[in-house]
Amino acid sequence: MKWHNNPPTADADGYYATGLTADMLQIDVMHPLKLADTAIILTRLGDEIIAFSAHCPHAAANLKDGELHRGRVICPDHDWEFDVRTGRTVWPADEPCRLKRYPTRLVDNCIFVQIAI
Ligand code: FES
Repeated sequence: MKWHNNPPTADADGYYATGLTADMLQIDVMHPLKLADTAIILTRLGDEIIAFSAHCPHAAANLKDGELHRGRVICPDHDWEFDVRTGRTVWPADEPCRLKRYPTRLVDNCIFVQIAI
């Protein structure tokens, strides 16, 4: 899977254009990209556009090399599993760490992601 590189353009609220439209995303398919030097993954969950960090919160493995199934991403290194809608750790069940998520917005069907500065 390749990274998509996009020009670093943000609006006044810190939302960056991804260069992708909502219809380009498919359920359970990860679209990795870098915005403002931040590696994220975009996906679709029903009608919802989801953006989350490409770095696993356990030990920073690259989640783009993992699996995404029914809104849960499984890390390639130690098989930890995260709910991409909430960021909650699904497995192991007692882990308090969270997958970082990013706000998204659609403008004329184009996807924007807010990256905190
Ligand atoms: S680095 Fe992801 S589960 Fe360990």
